[in-house]
Amino acid sequence: MKFFIDTANVEDIKKANDMGVICGVTTNPSLIAKEGRDFVEVIREIASIVDGPISGEVKATTEDAAGMIAEGREIAAIHPNMVVKIPMTVEGLKATKVLSAEGIKCNVTLIFSANQALLAARAGAAYVSPFLGRLDDISMPGIDLVRTIADMFAMYDDIHTEIIAASVRNPVHVTDCALAGADIATVPYSVIEQMTKHPLTDAGIAKFRADYEKVFGK
Ligand code: E4P
Repeated sequence: MKFFIDTANVEDIKKANDMGVICGVTTNPSLIAKEGRDFVEVIREIASIVDGPISGEVKATTEDAAGMIAEGREIAAIHPNMVVKIPMTVEGLKATKVLSAEGIKCNVTLIFSANQALLAARAGAAYVSPFLGRLDDISMPGIDLVRTIADMFAMYDDIHTEIIAASVRNPVHVTDCALAGADIATVPYSVIEQMTKHPLTDAGIAKFRADYEKVFGK
């Protein structure tokens, strides 16, 4: 399983990129709004940091296929690594079909069922994004959805759509996604940081330092 970072915050993106663990970025309208910056400006800056797929979502106010197609073309023109993120609706599928046929990669987002993922794959999506945390929030195990989609896609040689496990909220989610067969997990920086930590690592470093200093000094 590969990692993308799920943020539009360039400082967090730089930190994760410097660690060498991420190979892409996902954003959404909420994450862009949180930064309060111009969409194109922030996406260009992200593209200058990470050399990999960057998902930019169509505006939350664009609901028709024609609008999503026009906006998707604009997003794709920002940088060759752009992936157009499109909501899982009938109009979104129509837009995915057209944009994918033009060679523009689409990430169909807000996936909450295996059937939605299958439809998105058949419409030509390069990626589907099942949201496990939001399912957990309503007492439905989100990881089951990731596993079901992975099992289903694996049964068909002609499905090349990659699964981006999204709405990942904690390190346990990450391990579960890897074991469930997600191709990618898109993870906030706070979770990446949590994943680096273990109390025995800290205790081990402190002991090595103390033992060394006892004999050799600081
Ligand atoms: C990524 O593609 C999603 O937009 C994101 O992971 C949603 O996460 P959230 O449910 O924590 O907002």
